[in-house]
Amino acid sequence: MSEPIVLGIESTCDETAAAIVQGRTLRSNVVASSMEEHARYGGVIPEIASRAHAEAFVPCVSKALADADMTLDDIDAIAVSAGPGLAGCLAVGVSGAKALAWASGKPIYGINHVIGHIAVTQLQFGPFPKDTLALIVSGGHTSLLHVDDVARHIDVVGTTLDDAAGECFDKVARLLGFPYPGGPHIDRHARQGDPKAIRVPQGLTQGKAGAAHPYDFSFSGVKTAVARWIEQEQAMGHEIPIDDVCASLADSVATVLAKKAMRGCEQYGSDTLIVGGGFSANSQLRAKLLEYGRSHGVEVRIPEIKLCTDNGAMVAMLGVNLVEAGVRPSDPGFSIDSAMPLDKICM
Ligand code: KG4
Ligand code: ZN
Repeated sequence: MSEPIVLGIESTCDETAAAIVQGRTLRSNVVASSMEEHARYGGVIPEIASRAHAEAFVPCVSKALADADMTLDDIDAIAVSAGPGLAGCLAVGVSGAKALAWASGKPIYGINHVIGHIAVTQLQFGPFPKDTLALIVSGGHTSLLHVDDVARHIDVVGTTLDDAAGECFDKVARLLGFPYPGGPHIDRHARQGDPKAIRVPQGLTQGKAGAAHPYDFSFSGVKTAVARWIEQEQAMGHEIPIDDVCASLADSVATVLAKKAMRGCEQYGSDTLIVGGGFSANSQLRAKLLEYGRSHGVEVRIPEIKLCTDNGAMVAMLGVNLVEAGVRPSDPGFSIDSAMPLDKICM
C-alpha cells in the first residue's frame, strides 16, 4: 500500500467534520459547525452540540466521499477522534465511525484529536523532520510536545498549569463584552491597538517560578491582571481603550509562547517548530512565532487557517501516519476518552 487512503471523522466539540487524505494529499474536507447555536449561551452547550453532530454526521461523511469521488470501498482505513473532548460529542462520531467500519469491513483507528492538530501540518509542509518540537494551542490545551515519531512516540515537554491561551482570550473577551468565542474578536481589535499600552505580566518567565518551569505556561494571572486593570479604569470613570487592551494581551501571550517554544527547540536541538490547534489561527501569535523563528534559525510550520481550527483532515492525516507505520488498528470495541492524555496517540 504505497499511499494509504484514510477517511477522518471529527466530533470533539462543535464541529462535525469528515475528510479524505491519500498519502499527503487532501482529497476532500467537509466541516459543519454548530457554533452559531452556542453563541447566545456564551459557550458550547454539550447537549446541543451532540444533537448537531447526530444530524450532520451522515451528510458530512457522504459529502466527503462524494467530493473525493470515492465510496467506502476505496478507502483503506477509518480514523476518528476518540478524545479529548466532550463525551456526548465524541460518542456520536465514534459510534458512527464504528458503524461504517463494521459495515465496510475496514480497520478503524480511534485517534487523539490534539495529535491530529500536529499531524495536519504534513499536508502543507511534508513529513516531519526527526525529533521535532510542537506547540499545541487550542481552546483546551497549551503544551509543548517532543515528537519523536508522530505515529508511535510523543512526550509532553511542558504544559499550562492553569488556563489554556485560548481560554484566557475567551475569558478576557467576555469581560470586554464580545460574543463567544471571543478569541477572534480580540485578534481583530489587537491589530489596531498599541501592544505596549498596558503592562500585562508574562506568566512563569521570571524568578524562581520561571526557572522551575522553563517550558510550562500560566495564563490565569494574565487574565486577572487585565481584569483588575479594566476594573480600576472603570472605577475612575475612564473609557476602556479596547484596542490597546487586546493588543497588550495578545502581545504578552504571543511573546511567552514564542519564547518558550524557541527555548524548547534549542534544548531539543530541533530546527523546526510545528504549531497546531485553534488558537494558532491568532494573527499576533503567527507573526510573533515567525519573527522569533527567523532570529533563532527555526523553521516555523503553521498551517493555513482552515487547517488550524477543528477539521477532519487532521484526523485522516494522523490515520495515514498510523497505517504507514504499521500500527495495529484499535480494537473495534474501543471506548471514547474525554480526557485522553497527550502522550497517547491512538486507542
Ligand atoms: O482547537 P480549537 O478549535 O478547539 C479546541 O480543540 O479546543 O480551539 C478553539 C480556541 C478558542 O479558544 C478560540 O477563541 C480560539 O481557539 N481562536 C482564536 C482565534 N481563532 C480561534 N483565538 C485568538 N485569535 C484567533 N484568531
Ligand atoms: Zn481542536
